[in-house]
Amino acid sequence: MNAIDLLVTQHRSIETALQQVLDTDDEAARARGFAAVADLLTVHIASEEEIFYPAVRAGRTEGILLESLEEHLSLKRLLADLIALDPREQTFVPKYKVLKEQSEHHHEEEEEHLFPQASELLGSAELDRLATQMLGLQQRLRSEGAPREAMPEQTDKAAPLK
Ligand SMILES: [Fe+2]
Ligand SMILES: [Fe+2]
Repeated sequence: MNAIDLLVTQHRSIETALQQVLDTDDEAARARGFAAVADLLTVHIASEEEIFYPAVRAGRTEGILLESLEEHLSLKRLLADLIALDPREQTFVPKYKVLKEQSEHHHEEEEEHLFPQASELLGSAELDRLATQMLGLQQRLRSEGAPREAMPEQTDKAAPLK
């Protein structure tokens, strides 16, 4: 598995999971669905910030990476707000829709602007290695419990570009 294919596949899974939460009227199902979305987004973002972005850092990608890190911050803040809200609150669904829109926009930006540069910068062996590393990190975060619980601590400022 190549790192770019892995991240694109995860974008589609996250988008499907994001929509499923809106498709249900059942409150318990909505709460469970949101928890699943929040965990998916948290481990995806962590693996990009810890592994993928540092690997594609170069003079010509710095601007895109810095913008992506700011988009991650915005997603983290929305996730932290939503985690603190009862899904029955009137503001939950509107805020959740903003999370969905921003996630979709962010995925589009990565796929249009960052991933093409990454495939020029990195060879296929490196892309395979990065995929393995990212899956390892994601699995470790999941094995430690609910990864989404790390979100409220990451809302102060964007993660640094490593
Ligand atoms: Fe991202
Ligand atoms: Fe991504």
